[in-house]
Amino acid sequence: MTFSLNWRVLSLSLLLVGGSAFAADGAPKTAPVAAAHAASLRPGHAAVASANFHATEAGLEVLAKGGNAFDAAVAVAATLSIVEPESSGTGGGFMAVLHRAKDGRNIFIDARETAPAAVNPKDYLNPDGSPNRDTALRGPLSSGIPGQPAGLVLLSSRYGRLPLAQSLAPAIRIARDGFQPDERLRGAIAGTQKDLERWPASAAKYLPGGKPPAEGAVWRDPDQARTLELLAAHGHDGFYRGEVAQKLVKAVRAAGGNWTLADLAGYQAKERTPISVDYRGYKIVTAPPPSSGGVAIAEILNILSGYDLTKMDAATRAHYIIEAMRRAFRDHNDYLGDPDFVQMPLDMLLSPYYAAGLRQGILPDKATPSSMLPRAEAPEPGMHTTHFSIIDADGNMAAVTSTVNYTMGSAFVAAGTGVLLNDEMDDFALVPNKPNVYGLLGSAANAPAPGKRMLSSMSPSIVIGADRTAVIGSPGGSTIITQVLEGILHFIDGESAQQIAAHKRFHHQYLPDVVNVEEGTFDAATGDALTKMGYTLKPRESWGFMNVVTWDRKANQLDAASDPRRPSGLGKVQ
Ligand code: DON
Repeated sequence: MTFSLNWRVLSLSLLLVGGSAFAADGAPKTAPVAAAHAASLRPGHAAVASANFHATEAGLEVLAKGGNAFDAAVAVAATLSIVEPESSGTGGGFMAVLHRAKDGRNIFIDARETAPAAVNPKDYLNPDGSPNRDTALRGPLSSGIPGQPAGLVLLSSRYGRLPLAQSLAPAIRIARDGFQPDERLRGAIAGTQKDLERWPASAAKYLPGGKPPAEGAVWRDPDQARTLELLAAHGHDGFYRGEVAQKLVKAVRAAGGNWTLADLAGYQAKERTPISVDYRGYKIVTAPPPSSGGVAIAEILNILSGYDLTKMDAATRAHYIIEAMRRAFRDHNDYLGDPDFVQMPLDMLLSPYYAAGLRQGILPDKATPSSMLPRAEAPEPGMHTTHFSIIDADGNMAAVTSTVNYTMGSAFVAAGTGVLLNDEMDDFALVPNKPNVYGLLGSAANAPAPGKRMLSSMSPSIVIGADRTAVIGSPGGSTIITQVLEGILHFIDGESAQQIAAHKRFHHQYLPDVVNVEEGTFDAATGDALTKMGYTLKPRESWGFMNVVTWDRKANQLDAASDPRRPSGLGKVQ
């Protein structure tokens, strides 16, 4: 693997510039990161930003009761499961980057779903061998074993200060008392009505009286409240064994799925070492495999560290960023998967020397065409995953991206549990080199296998500088990676949390070989210049909802911003 990649890099570089893959200037220069990040300095107050105000308030409530950022993360995630079920929930999974103030430790929590033991790749093919998009995206075959509940138990028990029951209390209360679904949830239910109608428990939960909840109607989720109560009372076993597990397996199997009690009993959330990369004096701490996000962000930043983006006109700056994105996504497609199952050349992918080689293949004024793999045009995904960011008064931090994958996950609710199952199986390369719903291609490294975690793009990140820190992330399928990357660059450029969340965005993922552009990102002259360099610019409306918290250590000021693209979000400093 290593050999073939080096060969490819070398041949691409030689082809384009006729020079060595390894730059004469050697490794790119990265300014040394200030060593001490003042673990003793504390903000003295806290900030939470999430995609729904109920969830932000739940986090703040738990902080006010003496909880830390990790207890608050449990409260926010569980509340989003009730009020933003189209994006994430107890039937899904999450990835989190944590920073613990007392010892300065950075931690990665992998609560990603796993394939059930009986996973059968043939279930995702039509009789003629073509991909079956329905089994990949809807119904119980599309669901991995949920990771969210195990991840919340791990977060609370290992890092929290409060009992799990106290952190889950706001979510349970909102589920029991009810809330008014926002426009986006009502829209998501309306948009998936036909699929929800396929399974009685889904219809019963989301289509009261046969219709999506009306504007202003109060909506309750008693089954999920009970599931969360059992989790609160019994921890891991409250979900993965006993009543809830039995109901999940019964419902899944009755609807044609293949889960067993052993799949649930065997699920474990894991701690892994986060990826760290230094860039312009900042340390970026981000998600390792089974996310591809951190590897891609590190690879892009390593490539970009050979240029001074601050001294470039807008078109040249965008050109270098797009070329770095293109190269990182090619590697995403080819190499990455679950670290417990596949060997990945991470040392190489994360190496500044590797990035220096890639840089040699980038022409100063011309787009590099992506290799022409035959493939379908990627559809524009709906934005259905969620990210929230927290800093507490002691300086503990949590960046959490949580998902059920596509809008309303599998659209399948397991009867009696209130749990809407994910459709994360589509994040596997179910058919090699056929695009998934985000247009991502994959190889054997991300083929489904029993107990394996499907590759993710989730990129919760913490950006630590000598004076300023940001907790950042976004939903958006494959665009998560590029949106978070741009957020990191904007933060390092000095932007505020509000500016970062609002900033216009663009995206390139190697294939399709187009630059997706949000309206207003490039002025006309920049757009023309990029077109002349050989880029195909394609307008895109749907972008992730970024929730950012920043801490200016010099001024000791916290800032929290929720993406203005999402009116029901809330960033709040307490
Ligand atoms: O883990 C992943 O990469 C995807 N399941 C995330 C899905 C997502 O962001 C949906 N929003 N468009």
